[in-house]
Amino acid sequence: MPLFRLLVFAGALLPFALLVMDAFGGRLGPDPGERLTERLGLLAFQCLLVTLFMTPLSRWTGSPVWIRVRRMLGLFAFFYAVLHLLAFLQFVIGWEDLWVAFTKRPYIVFGTIALLLMCPLAITSTRGMMRRLGRSWKPLHRLIYPALVFAWLHFLWQARSDVGEMMAYAVIAIVLLVVRVYWFGWRTLVPLRRA
Ligand code: HEM
Repeated sequence: MPLFRLLVFAGALLPFALLVMDAFGGRLGPDPGERLTERLGLLAFQCLLVTLFMTPLSRWTGSPVWIRVRRMLGLFAFFYAVLHLLAFLQFVIGWEDLWVAFTKRPYIVFGTIALLLMCPLAITSTRGMMRRLGRSWKPLHRLIYPALVFAWLHFLWQARSDVGEMMAYAVIAIVLLVVRVYWFGWRTLVPLRRA
């Protein structure tokens, strides 16, 4: 099990290592700051989807190992989302007048909401917090569903031309949500409420 966790950890960190190498190797194209922001955003979104995939995987394979790496993957989603925000501030818009930066465009408002929804999940993802929150932990962590929806809207809204990619991600997200409703009922999608 520790080896499996280590492999998942390495797998989730690998895209970051590749991104750093591309950045230092000058392989991020004519606008590296923008490219970095995009790749980090995409990594955050992909990690969110992979996190949600762990429950179906665990049920299909009958193995609990997937559930044991779910929190770690969720934290990686948060890690990439925070780096995405920092890259946006540092390389795209600058640190002055943050209110204007965050409210200027609807897609940025959606991204901000998604990240704000992910904050309590990251803060309460330690074992100590799980113990302290007890039965409230699960309903709180269902905030991942609205976070996913806002992150997807953010993704879709900023697309300039090719929306095919976002639609493919939407299909994956919808399948994951439908599978969950089928197995556990729609109540398990509602955050902050005990099912
Ligand atoms: C305060 C929060 C956020 C801000 C200010 C923000 C800002 C941005 C900006 C400016 C872009 C466009 C990049 C460009 O084309 O120049 C972008 C793209 C994107 N963001 Fe965010 N974002 C935020 C949160 C998030 C979160 C929480 C996620 C996912 C969990 C996310 C996922 C994405 C994705 C997938 C893209 C598209 C990347 C691509 O074009 O391949 N963002 N974001």
